[in-house]
Amino acid sequence: MTKLEQIRAAEARLLLPTYDRNPILFAGGEGVHLIDELGHHYLDLLSGIGVNALGYGHPAIERSIINQSRALIHTSNLFFHEGQAELALRLTERTGLDRVFFANTGTEAWEGAMKLARAHAGLLRSEGKDIGTKFLALEQSFHGRTFGSMSTTYKAKYREPFGPVVPGVEFVRFNNVADLKAKFSNEVCAILVEAIQGEGGVRALTQEFFAEARALASSTGALLIVDEIQSGMGRTGKWCAYQHYDIRPDITTLAKPLAGGIPLGAIVCTEEAARAIHAGMHGTTFGGGPLACAVAITVIDAIENEGLLAHATEVGDYFQQQLRSLSAKHDAIVDVRGKGLMLAAELDSADLAKLTVAEMLKRHIVINCTSDTVLRFLPPYILERAHVDTAIAALDEIFTEHAAHTTANSAGGQQRG
Ligand SMILES: Cc1ncc(COP(=O)(O)O)c(C=O)c1O
Repeated sequence: MTKLEQIRAAEARLLLPTYDRNPILFAGGEGVHLIDELGHHYLDLLSGIGVNALGYGHPAIERSIINQSRALIHTSNLFFHEGQAELALRLTERTGLDRVFFANTGTEAWEGAMKLARAHAGLLRSEGKDIGTKFLALEQSFHGRTFGSMSTTYKAKYREPFGPVVPGVEFVRFNNVADLKAKFSNEVCAILVEAIQGEGGVRALTQEFFAEARALASSTGALLIVDEIQSGMGRTGKWCAYQHYDIRPDITTLAKPLAGGIPLGAIVCTEEAARAIHAGMHGTTFGGGPLACAVAITVIDAIENEGLLAHATEVGDYFQQQLRSLSAKHDAIVDVRGKGLMLAAELDSADLAKLTVAEMLKRHIVINCTSDTVLRFLPPYILERAHVDTAIAALDEIFTEHAAHTTANSAGGQQRG
């Protein structure tokens, strides 16, 4: 039995069967490449799932982990350490918001944001305002797997096995201003959006819809909460995707790439939203620990020192342009979209999308498929044009082979017929 086979057998016996893993055992990484147990390099165009913004083995991250682990890995939130305020300052400056709460994961940050919205509405009610407790979320949204997050996540497959979900959530048709206006009322305490939906297929809000959500929320004191867990921290070429729209949310949530692979999530909010929270109302054992904060500070500084926002824009534009050229050549690609290094190519069939991911993996390139037909690219920000060329050449080969195969099959079918 190989080591991989042994691990597969042990996992099959010991773990909850939540993941349908690819049969590869990764043992290391270097730059934009993952390295398997046999030493094969894989071009990683997914960065975990949008996590490893600086790729693998970044020297600043390694140094930061070594230094901070020698000093202090954990202390509780009953005491101070150096990292939280320093990181919060960086995050507030870059998001344009005022205050931060540190969690551990995306879903946990989102849960906290929902709690904050309910608490804020409660505060407004105590001040005599007429405002309810309902959430408006969007169709095709994804906000995580815990109860509140799951209840605001659209697809039934994530919610139905675990019902009843948290009540008081209504879904608005994506980018449909009329539906948003029809469903918004004083009953709503928050409108919940991703500026660019990730799991939903890399779909951006329109300026009109986003601006209307902002205006409606402001008209009653409801909060506009923007989930930047996948799109934030520079992936789209700006710190947050909402900055492309020049819209300021009341709350945003960050996680995935925030601490370069160490779990860390954050709720970042306005002074007004923060009025609703006082000591003891919310908390966490691990969130905002010294190690995660030190690494997150390092990640932000590296993104800036290495000019990675501009780089993500430049290489992302090149990647998108190359995908467009490919779609002009292959009818199977029906749409290309995204911003910076959050990109998608939508195909005309779910089977082809699945096949493409598998064929890319055979060629040692990691991508994934979301919303059945959408190939998603979330590479590390250090990606270079040469890596894009490698990926495009592989996709070209796969689509060409597939088209030839399909033509041969239909010709064979016609001959037989
Ligand atoms: C937009 C968005 N929100 C929330 C989450 C949940 O994050 P986590 O898996 O860290 O709980 C994800 C994860 O994919 C996400 O993409």
